[in-house]
Amino acid sequence: MNQQEMKEKARYVHSVFENIADEYDRMNHVISFGSHIAWRNYTMKQMNIQPGQTAIDVACGTCDWTISLARAVGPEGKVVGLDFSQNMLNVGAYKVDRAGVGQQVELVHGDAMKLPYPDDTFDYATIGFALRNVPDVQTVLNEMTRVVKPGGKVVSLEVSKPPFLPYRKLFYLYFYHILPWIAKLVVNKYEEYAWLPKSLTHFPDSRELAAMFRKAGLDPVRVKLFMGGVAALHIGIKGEASGKTTESKMGSAIT
Ligand SMILES: C[S@@+](CC[C@H](N)C(=O)[O-])C[C@H]1O[C@@H](n2cnc3c(N)ncnc32)[C@H](O)[C@@H]1O
Repeated sequence: MNQQEMKEKARYVHSVFENIADEYDRMNHVISFGSHIAWRNYTMKQMNIQPGQTAIDVACGTCDWTISLARAVGPEGKVVGLDFSQNMLNVGAYKVDRAGVGQQVELVHGDAMKLPYPDDTFDYATIGFALRNVPDVQTVLNEMTRVVKPGGKVVSLEVSKPPFLPYRKLFYLYFYHILPWIAKLVVNKYEEYAWLPKSLTHFPDSRELAAMFRKAGLDPVRVKLFMGGVAALHIGIKGEASGKTTESKMGSAIT
């Protein structure tokens, strides 16, 4: 993608999320059949966050993950939620307030491609269901790696491509053809939700994404597939000189 195409993608994605902010949470629940909650809970357990630690939730949207992180780090810790859609952040700010974690959360209007923090700032950098949306995945992974401390973790939870071909076709039938119509029925927005599957088309599969994690300087990288690979969790550690991706407690589909 050249610079102009990247700019256009960013502009388009920005307009999509500005438009769907108010119904984002409800639709997220509907289209994932509520599974995103279990995936996030599993992810949080794997991250093993300690009170007093620090995290940046990149492309935090309406702040579900930001709030989980804030609860885990407690009042002695600090979590930054960063997003370029002010409307998504506004919904997030309300939820952060309601969750009573405002003391340890700072919401920042910013670009995932250029994180406004010095090197080695956070213990964790997370990105949930957003890597597909950014103009350049490798740049964002490089940035997330840059701002975590040595030994810190970069974590992505994202829609993925099931490795078993017949199942992948079935999933695509739902994702590309049925999902936008569900959105049309529930919130009367077809085009914005037709973007969702389109954003997966050129996105790397879980093995390719693990390779991009390693290219960013994360090693080892652990991968867990959910529901046969419709979603994938990647966790990479910065600056551990330990060679290859490891088989982990997380189980399946290790690259
Ligand atoms: C599908 S939502 C995910 C929100 C949240 N992380 C979650 O798990 O529910 C994608 C988010 O990425 C944000 N986003 C996309 N590209 C971005 C960029 N370049 N910089 C910052 N935020 C971006 C959008 O504004 C949107 O809030």
